[in-house]
Amino acid sequence: MAVQRFLILNGPNLGHIGTRQPEIYGHQSLQDLEAILDSMFGQPRPFELSYAQSNSEGGIIGRLEKAREEGITGIVLNAGAYTHTSLALADCLAWIGIPCVEVHLSNTLARHEPLRHQSLIARHCLGVVAGFGVMGYAMALQGLADHVQPTR
Ligand code: DQA
Repeated sequence: MAVQRFLILNGPNLGHIGTRQPEIYGHQSLQDLEAILDSMFGQPRPFELSYAQSNSEGGIIGRLEKAREEGITGIVLNAGAYTHTSLALADCLAWIGIPCVEVHLSNTLARHEPLRHQSLIARHCLGVVAGFGVMGYAMALQGLADHVQPTR
């Protein structure tokens, strides 16, 4: 049976959410995120799900290239600060051909620093979810599940 295969990919400084500036990014950790998604999307899941996190630009791009080789059918990407600065990341999303949803825990458009209002990757994404904490990842997964056709 055809199955969708999604990857949740977190960028720099997102390995310690729950501890990192909880007044901005919330109190839930990556482990909490996995537990929430387990309970929301049930067993068996309607899609396969894997997780990755990298603090480096090259690490994120390498993981995206690997996702293409693995036949991943959708990506939920919180690229952290690279969202606002990385043309290399935008270039990667432009060619790998995997539907992607950009996610942010905080509402980047409401943040104080003007640079956070810019995303270099949004134009290569199906959509953007920002400001709903870890629930944003669930919203993005649902969006992918509704839009992405299984390939096998
Ligand atoms: C973030 C927002 C970015 O501006 C910031 O650099 C992050 C986290 C978010 O999830 O709200 O690291 O992507």
